[in-house]
Amino acid sequence: MKALVYGGPGKMELKEVPVPRLDRPTDALIRVTRTTICGTDLGILKGKVPDVKPGTTLGHEGVGVVEEVGAAVRNFKKGDHVLISCITADGTCEHCKKGIYAHCEDGGWILGHLINGTQAEYVRIPHADNSLHPIPAGVDEEALVMLSDILPTAYEIGVLNGQVKPGDTIAIVGSGPIGMSALLTAQFFSPAKIYMIDLDRNRLETARKFGATDIIDSAKVDPVKKIMAETKDGVDVAIEAVGVPATFDICQRIVRPTGHVAVIGVHGHPVNLELERLWIQNITLTTGLVSTFTTPMLMKNVLSGKLEPKKLITHHFKLGDILEAYKVFGNAGEEKALKVIITPEGAEATHAAAGQKKETQPAHPAEAH
Ligand SMILES: NC(=O)c1ccc[n+]([C@@H]2O[C@H](COP(=O)([O-])OP(=O)(O)OC[C@H]3O[C@@H](n4cnc5c(N)ncnc54)[C@H](O)[C@@H]3O)[C@@H](O)[C@H]2O)c1
Ligand SMILES: [Zn+2]
Ligand SMILES: [Zn+2]
Repeated sequence: MKALVYGGPGKMELKEVPVPRLDRPTDALIRVTRTTICGTDLGILKGKVPDVKPGTTLGHEGVGVVEEVGAAVRNFKKGDHVLISCITADGTCEHCKKGIYAHCEDGGWILGHLINGTQAEYVRIPHADNSLHPIPAGVDEEALVMLSDILPTAYEIGVLNGQVKPGDTIAIVGSGPIGMSALLTAQFFSPAKIYMIDLDRNRLETARKFGATDIIDSAKVDPVKKIMAETKDGVDVAIEAVGVPATFDICQRIVRPTGHVAVIGVHGHPVNLELERLWIQNITLTTGLVSTFTTPMLMKNVLSGKLEPKKLITHHFKLGDILEAYKVFGNAGEEKALKVIITPEGAEATHAAAGQKKETQPAHPAEAH
């Protein structure tokens, strides 16, 4: 099968690899029908996540159809249409029992990180019962790809950790897919003012359409000066959705006393935490890897039309053109890109008819070896 394989910093290759086999009775094999690229994949290629070993298939987002299940899988069967969570969870360890699947002792973020991921025709999902979600019939599966990672991440690590409340003034630093998802889900709580900050004018204009009340092009305007001049003493919640020291710095300088700084970005370098100034401010600083415990709730909001993640999708590619998709996503400013959808060849038929089992490749994957 085709897979996008990491080759070390700056290197990746689309190549033929064996179809994965079930390893344990709790595994499922999924035929991927839609996947995408995350800012974290770009971070891996920049060498930010050194745990990823060359030879690993990238990708931790996607939807697909169950091809085969291990003997111990109870919730899914061959032919089921499923959403793949970016987090794998055994559901039984101490962290899982608290709902913190991010730190599952036999899972967490492993897909496209410590084990082969979803940017391929097939993917093996360990602990399938707790790591997949059923897709109701008739739902547009492209929209649901946004539920594998970006919406639960932005909601759990940005909005919930930041404790956004009605009437709050909030600032989201970074208007990529994660920042935009924080913008969409923060609106569940009716904040009064939402500043979006980025260097990319096009993304800022899009953010305005998605509900930002104020946009700041930080290439032109100092966001700290502007926000401190326009608010009494800063923002209630500053959400960091980039992952570089400069954006953390903006957050710690705009948060008001008693406010929250919620860091979502994957950071590859140390930051300067100004404790000499912040110790007296009663602020709360949170970090975190998504657990995806809010995915079923977010799915209900997608089904009801309250949340429209499809508007985050700007480009479509075939899996055979995934290197081009990386170029476009990596050059988002010029390409006006947000989320790119990648479809393995032959999987198109599931697009309009999600959940209706319109399969185009009934062949058992063993035949593809
Ligand atoms: N914590 C988690 O569980 C989790 C999960 C998924 C992604 N992430 C991380 O979230 C971050 C955002 O992901 P994404 O997919 O939106 O990435 P992205 O690269 O598409 O978006 C980042 C945005 O930041 C902007 N930016 C860069 N430098 C800036 C600066 N100095 N000032 C203002 N804006 C700047 C860019 O223009 C871009 O729009 C990444 O670090 C990613 O690794 C974390
Ligand atoms: Zn991700
Ligand atoms: Zn666990």
